[in-house]
Amino acid sequence: MTSPPDHTAPAPAAPRTAEPPLQIPASPEPVVHPGRDAAAEAVADEIVALVERRPDTVLGVATGSTMTGVYRALVRRARERGLDVSRLTAFALDEYLGLPPGDPRLFRSVLEAHLVGDLGLDPSQLRTPDPERALDDPAGAAAAYEAALLDAGGVDLQLLGIGRNGHVAFNEPGSPPDSLTRTVELDGVTRDDAASSFGGLAATPRRAITVGVATILRARRLRLLAFGGAKAAILARALTGPVSPEVPASLLRGHPDLALHLDAEAAAAL
Ligand code: GLP
Repeated sequence: MTSPPDHTAPAPAAPRTAEPPLQIPASPEPVVHPGRDAAAEAVADEIVALVERRPDTVLGVATGSTMTGVYRALVRRARERGLDVSRLTAFALDEYLGLPPGDPRLFRSVLEAHLVGDLGLDPSQLRTPDPERALDDPAGAAAAYEAALLDAGGVDLQLLGIGRNGHVAFNEPGSPPDSLTRTVELDGVTRDDAASSFGGLAATPRRAITVGVATILRARRLRLLAFGGAKAAILARALTGPVSPEVPASLLRGHPDLALHLDAEAAAAL
C-alpha cells in the first residue's frame, strides 16, 4: 500500500527561469462535416449513446439556429432507438429578461418545443433560469441556478454555439474566465443579430441572465457547433488567437474535453 503524499514536506525548489513560459492552450482539431445535417447527427448520436449508457445524464442545452438541427436529429434518433429519456435533465444556458411569461421568443419556450413537445421530457426535466426573479433579485436568481446545477451533479455534455462577437451563452466580450451565473447587458452585435426575431432593434431585449464561463468550463464535455461563413472570422480568432475575455469562446480552449463540430464555411479561415 502506498502512503499518502506528505503535504508538510518542503516543496522541491522550482528551477529558476527568467520568464515563466507563456501557456497558450492549443485548440482541438475541429471536425469539419460535409454539412450541418451531418454535424447535427454526429452530435445527436453522441448524446443518444451517452443517455443509453447513463439514463440520468445532465445535458446542457443551447438555443440559436445552430441547435435546431441537433434537436431534430436527437428526437429522430431517440424515437428510432426507443430511448428512455425519463431520467434525463436539461439545463439551459441563458434567458432573455423583460419578455412576458410564455413569450415564444423566450429560450424556455424554444427549448420546450423541442425537448418537451418533441423529445417528450416532462417540463420539470427542463431547467431554465428564472427571468422574473432575475429582474427583482438578480443575485438570488443567479445563485439559485448555480445551486440547481450543482445539485444535479453538474453538466455531463454541454452544447454550445458561438456569437459573431465570440460570445458563448450570453458571456459577452469582457466576460472573465471565473464568471458564474449572473445578469448581463447584451452586446450590440448580439442585439443586432437577434433584432429580426423581435421586429427590430428597439424591441430587442437589452438584458439577460446567463451561466458564466466558469459554469460552462465545469461541464464534463463541451461540444461547440458553428455553421456558415458568418462564423468563420470569429472562430479563427477564438481558436488560433490569444486566449482572452475579449473573445469569450477562446477561454474554452483549456477544457480537457472540448470538441468543435463545423461545416466547411465556418472552418474556412482556420
Ligand atoms: C444566442 C445564444 C447563444 C448562441 C448564439 C448563436 O445569442 N445565447 O447561446 O450560441 O446566439 O446563435 P446562432 O446559433 O443563431 O448563430
